[in-house]
Order: sequence, then structure tokens, then C-alpha cells
Amino acid sequence: MKQAAQRILTGHRPTGPRHIGHLAGTLLNWASLQDSHECYFLIADLHVLTTDYLHPGRIRANILEVLADWLAAGIDPQRSRIVLQSAVPGHTQLNLLGMLVSESRLRRVPTYKEQVQQLHLQPSLGLLCYPVLQAADILLYQAGAVPVGEDQLPHIELAREIARRFNQLYGPLFPEPQALLSSTPRLPGIDNRAMHTSYGNAIYLRDTSDETARKVMSMYTDPTRIHASDPGRVEGNPLFIYLDTFNPDRDETAEFKQRYQAGKVGDVEIKVRLAGVLNRSLAPLRERRAELMRHPGDLEAILMDGTRSAAALARETLAEAMERMGLSMGRNLRVSERLEE
Ligand code: TRP
Repeated sequence: MKQAAQRILTGHRPTGPRHIGHLAGTLLNWASLQDSHECYFLIADLHVLTTDYLHPGRIRANILEVLADWLAAGIDPQRSRIVLQSAVPGHTQLNLLGMLVSESRLRRVPTYKEQVQQLHLQPSLGLLCYPVLQAADILLYQAGAVPVGEDQLPHIELAREIARRFNQLYGPLFPEPQALLSSTPRLPGIDNRAMHTSYGNAIYLRDTSDETARKVMSMYTDPTRIHASDPGRVEGNPLFIYLDTFNPDRDETAEFKQRYQAGKVGDVEIKVRLAGVLNRSLAPLRERRAELMRHPGDLEAILMDGTRSAAALARETLAEAMERMGLSMGRNLRVSERLEE
């Protein structure tokens, strides 16, 4: 058995199919962490509602898309637990940790401030409490480490504060979870903004090779370069960032860079090659994905297995946390189990 300190929890909101930025930045890293850690991978559907509660019809399909992408990328349900957040009542129940956080602290969370500026809606209470729910996700499984991107660091910091506060007040129960930052920098989208599901600038794992080629051919490159004979910029050029990430032939990439800087190769030649590289490296994954999507019943069964087995640990942690906080009466009355069914 791996140690509890080695337990990892991380997750995604099911906002749509995963793209090559998710693959390079997170999924391959998660897949390899399975060798050394006990892993819980959370499909955070409750979190979707903090902003997107107007489209309940999308969530179900998106859960299956995300699950198929995860599995195709190497998340292994034999070794790890894939958990559907809304199906384990403990996530919502452990929100009672919000009692230990001040409202002004939550207003200062940078992701909240950004979202409030971007949203055209009034921010909901749910959005304000987003990081409390995320802390509950992590602490419910007493996870010691959370692999995330840099944007999530303020949330992990809050989870650490909550764990610390709980432990001080009620005795040690929660490890202070540590963020595990992936070393892979974020991939830009095909328009050179951050790759994002809602920007229309992503290459998806589920795209066909034709769609991929078309997207690559329309990619932003060096905007100052007009003719193939103009010397081009390699740094910060998404063509070369993609080649660095996906082309196993490093010598070829180096040669392309040299010719590009010397004005000895056109964008088109590189794009054609990049499309080939991407399609070749994604092909096995796409095959697995297509096969998985043909059997949605199997996908649901995988989700059910992972969720069930996670729910057992979640119940234990929740009961202990409630007991420590003075909420053991319901347990003695033996009503809470029945309420959960
Ligand atoms: N907030 C995370 C994101 O948007 C998703 C998430 C929800 C998560 N719960 C989590 C990540 C718990 C790590 C741990 O990417």
C-alpha cells in the first residue's frame, strides 16, 4: 500500500473535450504520477455551476468527453480512482469548512477578482465559495499533494490555510496539501492567446487529422514576417513551441529553427510538417478515444466504480471531521447514513 502522504487528488471541471494543452500540460503528468502515488482524479461537475449554471444540458455529455480523453491519455482506472464530484455527497457536506474562512479572505482570492471582472453576471455566492469547495475536494480524501497549474496556486494556499486552522482547532486530521507544479509551460492556442475551450483556438484530442491540419495551417506565426526569405522569430512562435512539445525528432526541429531564422523556409512547409507530427503523435490516443466513445455504458461503469470506492474514504473523513466539529449527534441517531442513500 502506498502511504497516505503519497495520496494525490486533482481534477478538471467538465467544460468540454480536452485539448492538446491539457494533454501536454497536465494529463501526461497525471498519467505518470500513477506509478508513484495513489491517485484520485476528480471530475468537478459542481464547480461548473459556479459560472455556467445556465446550461445544465451540457454537463452530462461533457463528463463523458472528459472521461474518454483522460482514459485515452493514460489515466488508468485499474490503478487510480476517477471520481464524479456531484455523486459523492461528502464534497458538498465538507463545504462546512467554509465556517473556518472569512468572507473577506475569499474576496481577496485572485481568481475570484479576475472572474468578477470578466463575468457579465453578478458573481454568485457559489463562485465566491469556489475555493472552499475545492479545499473540500482535496481534504475529503486527505490528499497530501495536488498537481495543478500555476493559476490554481491561490486555491491550494487556501486549502492549506483551512487544513491548518482545522487541525489547530480540532486536532490534527488533514495533511496540508502541497501543490505539485508541472514543469511543462502552458501551450499557446493557434492564435497565440492562451489555449482555452471558449476561445475557439484549441486543437482537441478528438479532432480528426483533417481538422487538426486545417487548424495548423491557420496558425499564428511571426506576424512581422511577410516572405519566406525574411528572417523569422522562433522565440514565442507557437509553431516552434508545438514542435518542441510534440516532435520527437529534435534534430529536425533544430534544423527548422535555423532555417526559419535564416529566412530559408516558408511557414507553409513547417506547418505541413507540424500537422504531420501532431497527427502522428495523437493517432494512438485518438483511436483509443474513439473506441471508448463507442461504449458509453463502459465509461459510466468506470466512473461508477471509481466514485463508489472513493465514497467509502470520503464517508470516513467526513464523519471524523463532523465529530470533531461537534456534529456527532446525527451519527448517533443513525439518520445520516440513510439520508445519504
Ligand atoms: N479548479 C480546478 C480547475 O479549474 C478544478 C478542480 C476542482 C480541482 N477541484 C479540484 C483541481 C481539486 C485540483 C484539486 O482546474
